[in-house]
Amino acid sequence: MTVLGAGVMGSAFTSAILKAKVSPFPGKINLCTTDPNAVPILKSKYTEDYIHVVTDNETKSKAVAEADVIILGCKPFHYKGLYEEVKDSLSHEPLVLSLLAGITLKQLSIFTPNIARIMTNTPAQFGCGMATVAFSPEAEKNHKEIVLKLADTLGTAMEIPEKNMDAATALVGSGPAFCLLMMEALYDGGVRMGLQHDVAKTAAAKVMEGTAKMVLETGDHPAVLKSKVCTPGGTTIGGLLKMEDAGVRGAIARAVEEAAEISASFSK
Ligand SMILES: NC(=O)c1ccc[n+]([C@@H]2O[C@H](COP(=O)([O-])OP(=O)(O)OC[C@H]3O[C@@H](n4cnc5c(N)ncnc54)[C@H](OP(=O)(O)O)[C@@H]3O)[C@@H](O)[C@H]2O)c1
Repeated sequence: MTVLGAGVMGSAFTSAILKAKVSPFPGKINLCTTDPNAVPILKSKYTEDYIHVVTDNETKSKAVAEADVIILGCKPFHYKGLYEEVKDSLSHEPLVLSLLAGITLKQLSIFTPNIARIMTNTPAQFGCGMATVAFSPEAEKNHKEIVLKLADTLGTAMEIPEKNMDAATALVGSGPAFCLLMMEALYDGGVRMGLQHDVAKTAAAKVMEGTAKMVLETGDHPAVLKSKVCTPGGTTIGGLLKMEDAGVRGAIARAVEEAAEISASFSK
């Protein structure tokens, strides 16, 4: 396996695959980066003898030529330049998994016909991310199985049609930042009302973690669970009405809309 662009997401995917000990194991792993500052960090993080950190173009081309699976982890606007660097090493048509926001399967098909897009997020580095996966219509069944198995190491993988990938980019990829803003606001509110910082931080995080677990385990719509917490005349309904007055629901939903539109613009 070769990771072209072993930054935040490329490393997160590598760590998830290693942690899950997924089978078939990718064998030799090449982590390619153009960032000299990343080299010592990657070398100290991945000490296994089958993992190699690659920085020069010649070794990168070799790493591409010998890989069955290539993970594309560069920034979206770098993909064409990266293709130019490695195009002569792609004749064996490896399976290419793109983590890039916005860049379509059609655009990525310059690399190989065996292409899949995965949209994941930073919690994936702890194995609790979300991964949406889109395949080209020509994708073979065994390739799909391998990709979904690899994507599942990131947390939870679900196949979706490519036309929904920009929406998934917004919800899955940008979603952690939106949740962190909400978490920060809960933290601030707790501190404002006198909680110690460490208590407020842990409480805000555990409240979000526990609430997410409740939705996943019950399968109930969030509105149903929310309604159950609202005692008539109580504290929660009072707080919720303040949030509705401030337009919090619309603002968050519109944040997803905006992020999806920006993702769609990357392919233009
Ligand atoms: N971060 C997120 O939360 C998130 C969520 C979902 C999806 N994504 C997607 O994941 C992709 C990567 O994002 P990221 O946050 O992981 O970015 P990142 O940390 O900046 O990683 C990108 C890496 O690719 C390297 N690179 C650039 N050009 C290269 C080349 N020609 N050959 C080899 N390596 C090259 C970069 O090196 P330099 O620094 O030297 O350029 C960097 O190490 C993006 O396309 C983004 O859309 C990110």
